[in-house]
Amino acid sequence: MTTTDAEKKHEVPRKARESLVFAENITMKFNKVVALDNVNFDVGYNEVVGLLGDNGAGKSTLIKVLNGFHRPTKGQIYFDGNPVHFNSPRDSRDAGIETAYQDLALVNLMTISRNFFLGRELERRIGPIKILDMARMDQIAARTMAEVGLRNIREMQETVSFLSGGERQAIAIGRATFFGAKLLILDEPTAAVSVAETEWVLRLVAEAKHSGLAVIMITHNAYEVFDVADRFVVLQQGRNYADLKREDTSAKDLIEVIAGRK
Ligand SMILES: Nc1ncnc2c1ncn2[C@@H]1O[C@H](COP(=O)(O)OP(=O)(O)OP(=O)(O)O)[C@@H](O)[C@H]1O
Ligand SMILES: [Mg+2]
Repeated sequence: MTTTDAEKKHEVPRKARESLVFAENITMKFNKVVALDNVNFDVGYNEVVGLLGDNGAGKSTLIKVLNGFHRPTKGQIYFDGNPVHFNSPRDSRDAGIETAYQDLALVNLMTISRNFFLGRELERRIGPIKILDMARMDQIAARTMAEVGLRNIREMQETVSFLSGGERQAIAIGRATFFGAKLLILDEPTAAVSVAETEWVLRLVAEAKHSGLAVIMITHNAYEVFDVADRFVVLQQGRNYADLKREDTSAKDLIEVIAGRK
């Protein structure tokens, strides 16, 4: 992540100064496919934004541009008031953006506790040698998991391949709160999740907001996100289509907007 002199001199747009995230005029092309076409997107401090749109609208691509998984073809991202250039999700994590992808969130063959600390492992010293502090990592992971309501886990040494969809999301959310992320990005956190677990995940999103985080939640389900989000951004075929505050719309209305009928 670097800021060039030219950018320092360049005036930071007002929207960037007032928002936690501001993505300005983002275009993302994959060869001939234009996944994002001049998209503007912002998330306020401590705001929960529902990112909605039909299949292929560009939702996942947008969050992958935000977290450094993709470099945009064009456009500028600002985070916490500064222009940023994330070269990898690791960069954005270091800056305070925690992303839970639908599929890539966790490493299946690793234990719960190793997944929790992925890239931020705790170490301890034995004389001149540094080794992973498994006991402390297990202890912290277990405590945080209990706090987010993951009750049925017996062992932090279990691999995550046995976990349900909701439990996986809970690990990602727990990780974000524990490591003090500023922004939590959830890509369809309820897509492969039972009804009971969906309620749990939505409650965790509300709690994340309560503890000061901003959240981007991608979903297909307007009813689900309606209660937890403050604002809804709808993309259509890679373009901005609507940006609605909760008080100005309803879940039913949103469905019409997503379908392009309004
Ligand atoms: N790595 C890639 N290479 C080529 N095309 C891509 C790539 N990633 C996304 N696309 C294309 O970009 C467009 C937007 O895809 P994206 O995954 O962002 O949509 P989405 O809104 O997340 O859809 P869904 O609701 O199905 O998850 C689609 O046409 C998709 O095929
Ligand atoms: Mg997607």
